[in-house]
Amino acid sequence: MAKKSELIVKKDSRLISPSYTRSYPLVIDKAKDCWVWDIDGKKYLDFSSFIAVSNVGHSNPEAVKAVKEQADKCLHNAGTDFYNELEVKLARELNRITPGDFTKRVFFTNSGTEAVECAFKLARWYKKKHRMIAFLDSFHGRSMGSLSLTASKIMQRDHFSPLVPGVTHIPFAYCYRCAFGKEYPMCNMECLKYLEDEILTTIVPPDEVAGVIVEPIQGEGGYIFPPKNYHKRLQNICKKYRFLYIADEIQTGFGRTGYMFASEYFGVKPDIICLAKGIAAGTPLGACVAKKEIMSWPPGAHASTFGGNPVSCAASLASINYIKKKNLCRNAEKLGKIGLKFLKDVKEENEIVGDVRGLGLMLAMELVKDRKNKTHAKKETHKVLNRAFRKGLILLSTGVSTIRIIPPLTITKEDFEKGLDILESVIKKI
Ligand SMILES: Cc1ncc(COP(=O)(O)O)c(C=O)c1O
Repeated sequence: MAKKSELIVKKDSRLISPSYTRSYPLVIDKAKDCWVWDIDGKKYLDFSSFIAVSNVGHSNPEAVKAVKEQADKCLHNAGTDFYNELEVKLARELNRITPGDFTKRVFFTNSGTEAVECAFKLARWYKKKHRMIAFLDSFHGRSMGSLSLTASKIMQRDHFSPLVPGVTHIPFAYCYRCAFGKEYPMCNMECLKYLEDEILTTIVPPDEVAGVIVEPIQGEGGYIFPPKNYHKRLQNICKKYRFLYIADEIQTGFGRTGYMFASEYFGVKPDIICLAKGIAAGTPLGACVAKKEIMSWPPGAHASTFGGNPVSCAASLASINYIKKKNLCRNAEKLGKIGLKFLKDVKEENEIVGDVRGLGLMLAMELVKDRKNKTHAKKETHKVLNRAFRKGLILLSTGVSTIRIIPPLTITKEDFEKGLDILESVIKKI
């Protein structure tokens, strides 16, 4: 490890909570578009978008300009007590671009977990019912309410119970590792039949359920892509039993999948949508967007001191405008197809690759020790990340042994292929 980086890592281990999950010693100094420099001056190509956040590229010039202008005017406006034009402008924009042409209202937060907390509280408040259905392998955040919905890693829950009661988790459509041992499409989506025929008839009285919360594509659980008609069928079940259908688009939103929101690909219009990550070019912001009649709670029911701060709202407006102006969804779609084909070829030639999947620039490669038993190749995944890092490529894992490929949506074909080549060379050596 180079000198300056080593020193910071040492100091960090003394001063910072050890609960973070750093895979390798990257100490970031600066980042521009798809490139990152560490404090020792080494340059890296970024295939992480710093966890699906920098969709418009790091330090996007238009977002930075908006941030600087707003910072000069006013840094904070306490949306709990006062009004601000930027919040109104951004709410109108979010209402326009999120799926569903019905009228909506927005609650602004600072993070993803708070957007989910808001959705959870709102669902209970509106339906006057306490139960929620969520999914195994899901990730919705780490604060107590969101954590109660999260079910991706035991470490995230260990010693934190009792959590919020009333949440029932069911298997998601993880077709590569089907919980029911079936194969799509012959399965006829047994996982959804299980919700209706087992859960709602044995342990969860439908009358007590406020809503179902689901990631269109599971993120932290391992980049798990359900069949295309899955969410429509799930939403139909919600309609039948009068459950709210809540989409957590925190990782899938803002062009990542080649659609502004993944719900568009699946053809669903959620009652409530949770947003964060790619919403504001890297500044802290989250939002819970709900149908107007649902978000009708009274003053005092919910609020946030920093939520919707004007600097982040300015960055968000600039960022959304940039996604549209530069047609980044199209770039994600185009490069995503190239990427998926590349990953399929890598799979053909490398036994360790058990499955590849993706939509737009939300791509993944699941590593296994052997294809027959699909034993997770956990150590090998760690090795891939470390070796790629040494070769100047920033990658992140997800789930147990899956590598995600999520560069900023601004990446050029040339740089994208450069990164894929590094990834392939590393996989070949493992
Ligand atoms: C789908 C999803 N929901 C919620 C969250 C929590 O977001 P935050 O870390 O901003 O609280 C994440 C973060 O990874 C996420 O991917």
